[in-house]
Amino acid sequence: MLQRLDKALSNTGLLTRSQAKDALKAGRIQCDGVIVWDGAVKVDPEVQAITLDGERISVGTVILMLNKPAGFVTSTQDPRDKTVMELIPSQYRRRVAPVGRLDKETEGLLLFTDDGDLAHFLISPKHQVPKIYYARHEGEATQEDVAAFSQGLTLKDGTSCLPARLEPLGPGESRITVCEGKYHQVRRMMASRGMSVTYLERQSESGLTLGDLPRGEVRLLTQGEEMALRRGN
Ligand code: URA
Repeated sequence: MLQRLDKALSNTGLLTRSQAKDALKAGRIQCDGVIVWDGAVKVDPEVQAITLDGERISVGTVILMLNKPAGFVTSTQDPRDKTVMELIPSQYRRRVAPVGRLDKETEGLLLFTDDGDLAHFLISPKHQVPKIYYARHEGEATQEDVAAFSQGLTLKDGTSCLPARLEPLGPGESRITVCEGKYHQVRRMMASRGMSVTYLERQSESGLTLGDLPRGEVRLLTQGEEMALRRGN
């Protein structure tokens, strides 16, 4: 979508509107390899390569994947704990927000974006976006537990859950697929069947997986991943 270059630059969060104006005036901004002086020029940030001092900057929407380590809270600020924002590279930190949340001790895949519509789509239970977790837990999952998950559990406080998938992997280990994101959902679902979770990792969301992204590291989604995410698979 075409938009004014100065607006696109300030939307990155890297530059304020007046810094963008100064950068343009100083000839520091190029579009497809050509210096652009005029902020009113219309550009398509999804298609054109825009650079600041020769460095490509992302002026379209941004979607990042973090392999979250334990010990970080999913919040933009916290008086006591380290937040997941501390793991986000500084050029994106002011721009993106986490999509949903993982508990402080949960590890694994957490997305961040500045695209509010996409975040809403991914979080809304209406769209049934699947999220896959690996859990270590007390006890052993039985076929009755599998059936109870698939019928839709009722938690101890009376909360109803959508049907979910429980796959026992071995003694004290299971894979759980849920299509909603209630508070402490997986831990509470497992607890409702007498299996207290001792370790939890999100391995996948909407078909995206961590691949070989190391724990604590962040990467931009590839174009293919982004397209698949927007299609909803
Ligand atoms: N379910 C939980 O219980 N915790 C998480 O962090 C994510 C899903």
